[in-house]
Amino acid sequence: MREGGKRSSVPDGGRAADWRQPTAIAERVGRGVAQGAGSGGVSAAGILDSRGLPDQEFARLWDSLVFEDDLKNRLLAQAVLNFTIRTQVPRAYLPLHGIIVLVGPPGTGKTSLARGLASATASVVSGLGGFLYLEVDPHSLTSAALGRTQKAVTELLGSTITEAAAAHPLIVLLDEVETLAVDRSRLSLEANPVDVHRATDAVLAQLDLLADRCPNVLFVATSNFSEAIDRALLSRADLILEVPLPGAAARRTILQSTLEAVGSPFPGVGRLASHRDFDRLVEACADLDGRGIRKMVAAACAFDKQTALDPNRLTLNDLLRAAAQARKGMTATKRSRA
Ligand SMILES: Nc1ncnc2c1ncn2[C@@H]1O[C@H](COP(=O)(O)OP(=O)(O)OP(=O)(O)O)[C@@H](O)[C@H]1O
Ligand SMILES: [Mg+2]
Repeated sequence: MREGGKRSSVPDGGRAADWRQPTAIAERVGRGVAQGAGSGGVSAAGILDSRGLPDQEFARLWDSLVFEDDLKNRLLAQAVLNFTIRTQVPRAYLPLHGIIVLVGPPGTGKTSLARGLASATASVVSGLGGFLYLEVDPHSLTSAALGRTQKAVTELLGSTITEAAAAHPLIVLLDEVETLAVDRSRLSLEANPVDVHRATDAVLAQLDLLADRCPNVLFVATSNFSEAIDRALLSRADLILEVPLPGAAARRTILQSTLEAVGSPFPGVGRLASHRDFDRLVEACADLDGRGIRKMVAAACAFDKQTALDPNRLTLNDLLRAAAQARKGMTATKRSRA
């Protein structure tokens, strides 16, 4: 399928994947690996989650994400390269840092993509032993107390992550990275304490040390605002990928898969995916992000109590109305931010 001249990586050539079946990567996830939140066994300050990889939940996320262009393949190839070429070639010749940055509007799937990527990478790369996933909670690191953030960052990257990397190939999610690596050029020293500058300095220094010592670590950072991320961090990234709003082909697949998911217990909802006016719904969701499209289906079921009690009563008109409301809501949010 093509849209805007780009090659499509929409699964099944645009048909919704059967979300109930473990697909592609999900079905290759080994049974022997400890699964789920906390299964990695690392609990330390600043760590939100740790898991053994591959992970079923993350693999399902990966399979459920839909983009028109080759975004997922490109991303997976870069992550795999981190664990093949980077561990073999000296940094003096190939100065890779092991950092991928995903930037884009809210709700476009960046966090899900990063988690799914971790599992997909571990499924594809062999011979390095069990992969570990760590998710950093940036908000728990940033502290108002003078010097505390810098200390917490140094502790996390210099001890917790360095120790984990000594034992496993490691993939680390730095969600909302602008919280940790604040663009120093945009900070005024009057309004922001030296502490904030020092925290960014500490992140960069620790990332450099890790890049030197631990070639088997990959950081995946996400952000809504590339302008808020420190330039020096962006310049260390091996890949900066813009995650876009879904185009028409992706919107169609996201809608179909959501309706089919709800349609499993409520067949009346699943049937709406083949409604003759389905194209109008795809059009009505223009400008909505992936999260907004999936939530819109739930919102449509909540227009009246009877439909909420029995979602089989949902109509295409309910969906069109919910889509219009969601777009209105987005416009209002954009206006209030401007
Ligand atoms: N391209 C997409 N294809 C399919 N589903 C999507 C897509 N984008 C978003 N979603 C849905 O929206 C959910 C939320 O996405 P996620 O939290 O990863 O977005 P995000 O970009 O990290 O948002 P934020 O910037 O607000 O943190 C996903 O789990 C998925 O169900
Ligand atoms: Mg996110």
